[in-house]
Amino acid sequence: MFKRIIICSGPTVEPIDPVRFISNRSSGKSGLQLVNEAVKRGIPEIIFITGPTCFEASNPAYSVIRVETALEMREHLLRYSDDADVIIMAAAVSDYRPANYSKEKIKKDRETLTLNLVKNPDILFELGQGKKPGRILVGYAAETHDILENAREKFTRKNLDLLVLNEVSAENPAFHVDKNQVYFVTAGGFQKLEMMKKSTLASRVWDEIEKLAHE
Ligand code: CTP
Repeated sequence: MFKRIIICSGPTVEPIDPVRFISNRSSGKSGLQLVNEAVKRGIPEIIFITGPTCFEASNPAYSVIRVETALEMREHLLRYSDDADVIIMAAAVSDYRPANYSKEKIKKDRETLTLNLVKNPDILFELGQGKKPGRILVGYAAETHDILENAREKFTRKNLDLLVLNEVSAENPAFHVDKNQVYFVTAGGFQKLEMMKKSTLASRVWDEIEKLAHE
């Protein structure tokens, strides 16, 4: 059904100096499960673009591109995205990066230190802007409040076909866990899924993508 798909996963890491960086708590587990599920479904060309994670992802059934920063992720994604039937942005892209990289390690010779940050490009938004007819674009979101309103706004603004929405709470921490409770946001509305293993969820995400492709 699909010829080429791209999955972006993991955190991005934005360097401050040779020994320090800004990043986030993404483990990359959800993205890896999506890749494994795509392999099971026999998709011929699977491109997996991943920020640094502790998984040794490698398999002849897919190509792995390892990146560090949001700008690198964007560059590789745009290089391969033209012919992609499905693009899933499960990556936790750092919204900001240090404005200036210090080639030398910053020494602690001051009492306070201010880091200037600049905004990274919103890769998913850019993909939504140039979306080809027939392509399925999937985003992920983590929200703590007004979750359905925020998710609907994100779904529309980024021109998505599916948004997988995590409600981040004490019961559903979302990061570094094996289970997840999410909502699917589509043009048709919201669907609340039960708490399930990330591997089962990956299969449900692919079922939903196949359903959307048939519509
Ligand atoms: N995303 C992206 N590029 C960015 C930031 C986010 O491609 N610079 C993608 C993520 O991979 C995810 C989706 O956008 O699929 C939602 O990201 P999120 O950070 O939740 O939403 P934002 O639009 O950045 O809004 P906010 O952080 O204000 O909630």
